[in-house]
Amino acid sequence: MMMMSFRMAPPPLPLIFLLILHGVYSADDEWGVNYSSSSICALKGSTVIINCTYKYPTGHQIMKVFWTKINSPDPPDLSEDSKYRQRIQYLGDKHHDCTMRLTDVRQTDSHKYYFKFNTDKLDGKWIGVPGVTLDITLITDLQVESSGERVIEGHSVTLTCKSRCSLTDRSTFIWFKNTQSLSERTDRNNQLILQSVIREDAGNYSCAVQGHKLTSPHQYLNVICKFIFK
Ligand SMILES: *[C@@H]1O[C@H](CO)[C@@H](O)[C@H](O)[C@H]1NC(C)=O
Ligand SMILES: *[C@@H]1O[C@H](CO)[C@@H](O)[C@H](O)[C@H]1NC(C)=O
Ligand SMILES: *[C@@H]1O[C@H](CO)[C@@H](O)[C@H](O)[C@H]1NC(C)=O
Repeated sequence: MMMMSFRMAPPPLPLIFLLILHGVYSADDEWGVNYSSSSICALKGSTVIINCTYKYPTGHQIMKVFWTKINSPDPPDLSEDSKYRQRIQYLGDKHHDCTMRLTDVRQTDSHKYYFKFNTDKLDGKWIGVPGVTLDITLITDLQVESSGERVIEGHSVTLTCKSRCSLTDRSTFIWFKNTQSLSERTDRNNQLILQSVIREDAGNYSCAVQGHKLTSPHQYLNVICKFIFK
């Protein structure tokens, strides 16, 4: 009861004043660009979507929105660059969304990217530093990691297909046991979960990403007879 009446009490005056100040002078009067992440790793040939939002003080009208690789006062628009024109798409708008899509990424796309917008006011320009770093990679470093090298019969084990790059483009992983493809496995993401293992599950496991040639080195999974632990 004490607690309740305390909570229902109106906030003290200085706090109300602060909230009003914040609303009027801070939240609405700032310039800024936010990217979903500051660095994105993607596989060659995949599609990258950079989620992005931007804001500017009220009273400005957005005239131009574009993505660029150069942080300078008057940088070139990537959609006018012959190397990008066919592959870059602005999915955002002229209000607050600056999401961008780049398809069929190449290793030469590994670079920093910035969103820039110009308003109708003379000084009303903004570039979203520090930008987003794209790292386009060929898979060269797949690796199987096991939650345990030895698993007791009846227990479960999780195998994870790892790469330097956290693969954000919803890649499809393929698992092999003793070089045979486990095509019926559709476990989540990059993991193979063996529930209640049996002796026959023992073997050499390796993984690959669909559409890419490389296969990881194999990892031996040892299944131990449960009677040993009686
Ligand atoms: C980007 O936005 C889409 C749609 O809102 C969302 O599904 C996706 O998870 C976001 N990606 C990142 C990397 O935040
Ligand atoms: C960026 O994110 C921060 C924290 O979530 C938020 O306070 C700020 O308003 C955002 N800026 C833009 C431009 O969306
Ligand atoms: C697993 O790999 C090891 C080392 O390469 C090999 O000696 C062994 O015969 C393989 N086991 C099976 C079941 O293929």
